[in-house]
Amino acid sequence: MFRRLLESVLFPHKKINKTRLNNAINGKTIVVTGASFGIGSELCLLLSHYNVHLVLVARTRSVMEELAQKIEANGSTAAIIAADLYDDEQIEQTINQLLQLERIDYFISNAGKSIMRSLARSLDRYHDITRTNALNYLTPARMILALTPLLAKSKGTVINVSSMIVLLLPAPMWCAYQASKTAFDNWFRGNWAEWKHMGITAKSIYYPLVKTRMIAPNPKYANALAMEADQAAIRICRLIYRNKPAQKPWWGVAPQAASFFGKRLWNKYSYVKVSSKG
Ligand SMILES: NC(=O)c1ccc[n+]([C@@H]2O[C@H](COP(=O)([O-])OP(=O)(O)OC[C@H]3O[C@@H](n4cnc5c(N)ncnc54)[C@H](OP(=O)(O)O)[C@@H]3O)[C@@H](O)[C@H]2O)c1
Repeated sequence: MFRRLLESVLFPHKKINKTRLNNAINGKTIVVTGASFGIGSELCLLLSHYNVHLVLVARTRSVMEELAQKIEANGSTAAIIAADLYDDEQIEQTINQLLQLERIDYFISNAGKSIMRSLARSLDRYHDITRTNALNYLTPARMILALTPLLAKSKGTVINVSSMIVLLLPAPMWCAYQASKTAFDNWFRGNWAEWKHMGITAKSIYYPLVKTRMIAPNPKYANALAMEADQAAIRICRLIYRNKPAQKPWWGVAPQAASFFGKRLWNKYSYVKVSSKG
């Protein structure tokens, strides 16, 4: 009960302004990576009520086929690109397929991989670093670079689905995920002015924990305070029609300030915590 109350304060229930969203996306082509599950899937369902053409990108074709049926039942159209975005050849094929589109009005870079593991348990797991970097940084950067001319022609918008963790100090256990998300966020924000010059709008959304498959394997998060996936998707819809470059929780400035002012304390505390685990 208390937990629910706290969640409703931290992640207040938001609604979509249907008129504004409709004005922004009706008749548009929207590419969503990581469309098969979690935030991406919820987002596609929400957008499908506004006569859009959705291009779904992820690995699990069967799930995307079911999603495409729901999208079409809601009055929109859907195309599926089933691709493993770790695989060089499949990334290239995905880009080529996307370049066949007449236009891309919104490219929502949402596919991602999270990992939480201590350094001690990561010594033989260099692949945690290569995989998180591949999916969270290198592949989206590669796709967006290749699609930039088409996005410019369409006067399109690129949205980076990011995490609050990139706004905080380096966190033990989260290094691989945080480094990859932070690298992409820096790359993305660094291009902002040039994209603007080309007529492309770039926006970022920084999530707290969201109740999806991504956090499910971690028992520590079973009772953690987290946003519902549909509410996370609603926040992307709102970002689409609102004239602001970024969205983060209303309390987002507090952990940022704590990171800035409590740097010494944080370093000391995190050292003790990790070293006490051996
Ligand atoms: N959940 C959170 O607490 C949280 C917090 C902050 C930020 N975020 C960010 O939100 C985004 C969406 O995460 P989510 O919570 O919705 O996670 P999710 O439910 O695990 O969904 C991840 C999506 O990415 C796709 N994907 C994963 N590996 C892929 C690959 N190799 N090739 C192609 N697609 C791949 C998955 O589809 P397939 O498995 O079908 O390929 C799935 O559709 C991520 O960028 C994440 O970093 C999440």
